Amino acid sequence: MDFLRLAKMRCTTRGFNGTAIPQNDLDYILSAARVAPSACNRQPQRIIVARNPESIAKVAKAYKTFGSSCILIVCRDRRNELIRPFDSKCSGDLDIGIVCDHIMLAARERNIGSVMVGLFDPNIIRTGFDIPNYIEPTALLILGYPSDGFLSPDRHETERRPLDDTVMFERYVEQSQNERDSFVIKGDKVDLIPAILEDKTDVYEWCFHSETTKSHAGPPDYPDHAIPSREEFFSGVGGYHDYFFIGSRPKDGRGFIIIHDGARIGFISYTSFHVQEHKSELDIWMNSEAHCGKGFGTDAIIALGNYLHTTMDIQELIMRPSAKNARANRSYEKAGFQKSDMRPEEYLLEEYISDFGDGDYGEDESAVLVKSFIVV
Ligand SMILES: Cc1cc2nc3c(=O)[nH]c(=O)nc-3n(C[C@H](O)[C@H](O)[C@H](O)COP(=O)(O)O)c2cc1C
Repeated sequence: MDFLRLAKMRCTTRGFNGTAIPQNDLDYILSAARVAPSACNRQPQRIIVARNPESIAKVAKAYKTFGSSCILIVCRDRRNELIRPFDSKCSGDLDIGIVCDHIMLAARERNIGSVMVGLFDPNIIRTGFDIPNYIEPTALLILGYPSDGFLSPDRHETERRPLDDTVMFERYVEQSQNERDSFVIKGDKVDLIPAILEDKTDVYEWCFHSETTKSHAGPPDYPDHAIPSREEFFSGVGGYHDYFFIGSRPKDGRGFIIIHDGARIGFISYTSFHVQEHKSELDIWMNSEAHCGKGFGTDAIIALGNYLHTTMDIQELIMRPSAKNARANRSYEKAGFQKSDMRPEEYLLEEYISDFGDGDYGEDESAVLVKSFIVV
């Protein structure tokens, strides 16, 4: 197998079936770790293999173990570290990162899945495994056979930034700023600039942990609509995949930050992958009450709708707010939407009806509003 294919086939696995990894495969993986390069060849890695149920249980106190029965605690020896004299940067994390990548790729070659974990509690690991102060537990590599198979190697087309975003020649160029400068959708009161990956956390917080959340999610007003975790929101069905923040699949969807007077006041997106040709579904939320009721949302919806109509030949826009969100419904009607009794079969692609047919609020509670550019 060529290297790029193996690299694309590696993916993070967060569910294992518990089958033990044969010793010869583990030896192979550890040998791959051994030959990793390190600064000045100091080889600071110290790897503890946790396989006993008691050891796995100890790791489980520091982080989820996803059903694995083999966890590598990758530590680094902090004595004798290589420090760059110019800015005191320590090479240790780089060394461990390379070791971990060797491990994950070697594991994948043997059809063993992995997740590299940095967010565990190091003190729990230190105590549980008798690790001295000068050894830092740096990463966990949780290994095993995936309970739901491996992700497609093709996912990088949408889950990674395009090369142009991360590689530049001869001098540094701020790519995302470039895109933002050159691509602005202008409304009367607001501008829409393409959202980028750095905006994801804000976009999530604005939707689910801001003043405006109560108008569309979570208790007390929406007791049946639990607030998703950030990970669920950006990966699951109905969530926002990275391409909404990269712009790599403009035909399928894209997110935009709403700007008023230079301030970021909300998020608006269109989603087209799940609807029939020439249709698109819009969604919008503001980040504070101060930005609601001033026509900013209405203006953003009109601007994005016109943009989609003129550049992508979108003829029908769909919005599906909660029927009880009167303010949202009023704003959409002001933007030219009308209540519709259209059934999901009339606008969704057949294969998405079961996942998306009920809308975010369930069949009974979701209103369907449509704005049509079709001249009759
Ligand atoms: C240094 C590092 C730390 C990570 N820490 C965690 C973690 O604490 N928990 C987790 O679930 N995934 C963690 N990951 C996995 C990343 O979320 C994952 O690699 C990334 O989303 C890309 O997905 P992919 O590995 O499937 O290509 C980490 C990855 C790296 C490289």
